[in-house]
Amino acid sequence: MASTDTKVDILLLGAGGREHALLMKLAESPRAGRIWVAPGNGGMLAMADLADIDQDSPADVAAFARDNGIGLVVIGPEAPLVAGVADAVKAAGIAAFGPCASAARMEGSKLFAKQVMERAGVPTARFRSFTEEAPAADYVRELAGPCVVKADGLAAGKGVIVAKDTDEALAGLAECFSGEFGDAGSTVVVEEMLTGPECSLLALTDGHTLVPLATAQDHKRALEGDRGPNTGGMGVYSPVPIVTDDELATMTSIEEKVVAQLAADGIDYRGCLYGGFMLTPDGPKVLEFNARFGDPETQVILPRMQCDLVDVFLSVDAGTLDPTSITWADDWAVSVVLTSAGYPGHYDRGLRITGVDRASALPGVTVYHAGDALDEDGELVTAGGRVLDVTAVAGTFEEARDRAYEACDLIEFDGKTLRRDIGLRALKGRGAWEA
Ligand code: AMP
Ligand code: GLY
Repeated sequence: MASTDTKVDILLLGAGGREHALLMKLAESPRAGRIWVAPGNGGMLAMADLADIDQDSPADVAAFARDNGIGLVVIGPEAPLVAGVADAVKAAGIAAFGPCASAARMEGSKLFAKQVMERAGVPTARFRSFTEEAPAADYVRELAGPCVVKADGLAAGKGVIVAKDTDEALAGLAECFSGEFGDAGSTVVVEEMLTGPECSLLALTDGHTLVPLATAQDHKRALEGDRGPNTGGMGVYSPVPIVTDDELATMTSIEEKVVAQLAADGIDYRGCLYGGFMLTPDGPKVLEFNARFGDPETQVILPRMQCDLVDVFLSVDAGTLDPTSITWADDWAVSVVLTSAGYPGHYDRGLRITGVDRASALPGVTVYHAGDALDEDGELVTAGGRVLDVTAVAGTFEEARDRAYEACDLIEFDGKTLRRDIGLRALKGRGAWEA
């Protein structure tokens, strides 16, 4: 473990609720020195300095880190990882939290991730990949039923079409091959549809040791009852009460096998590995991997995680991750996302937000800022689709849920929109997924 008496200046990349949660946890560490954020948001800039750089530019980030004596660069989102920001920072002799570009391909290319999973022998949906529409359409017709069409590359969360029948799948293929998702859609993966509850398991790894963090469950659809378009996430809770010990062990072992396979392939994965799983009747199967912390999963995982996050991130970079350096509070966290009316479609910005202080004063409540900004008068205004993540931690799942909604009701802005059913199904038990 690194020495506890040297302060480390930190540069944190990103602008979402995930990054605000990372910032708060990093700032708690006695080792945290000055913290810079790029680009940050209204809540982050109230407690850290702005680094006026392009977060996706490896050269800019490495130069800023070098010029400002930064000792740790923490990379929140996927785009800078895939662009090679961690590679540039490490090449400058500075610690980076987040995998190098070759390892971030686990998220940057769905086909690459599938091939790694095949080699590692871990359970995932059966699939085929295509670079042309006609053979892909033949395969979809052959499947003659529900399937999932995925653009290979990063498509800002939009490149996955869960098709209930052949027509929807063919329309999804046409969308991918039309260039709608740019280069991301030039290769397409078509896979079998899996059913069951979904569960995320985030893990930290230094390339050989893997430490699973708590399970979490996101709510991706915009409307109550899991209807409407997909979003970046409308609410989340942790841990997931319906997951059995066997399922947790299987998910952990799948992630260990994947990291070992990457190592065998010459790829050193250091950072957060986010596994998205479907808990099928045949056991957990992988839906996807992300190369970063989840958003909004981070907002319910970090508040329960007991550790010095600066030390932990430095140990991940150094290859000295110690599983005993992380322990968990015996409680529950629920986070509800407040969005702008119209999200994920068009929405207004610049609307005054009130009540955040009152909400944050409730016991166990933290309001993470996501799509907001400070206007010229220093007032908090909306600036994005997902505006605030209202998280409550409490001794029981019900209490955490009630407290989160109590806090949501204290915050106001024109067009404030939220799902009232976050965690409701989990409260009813596993049978609620079979209904
Ligand atoms: P991905 O980005 O690959 O996780 O896909 C986004 C969402 O699409 C997932 O969270 C699932 O809800 C859904 N999905 C992806 N793959 C499948 C699959 N094979 N079967 C059913 N749903 C899926
Ligand atoms: N919660 C979904 C994601 O971070 O991709």
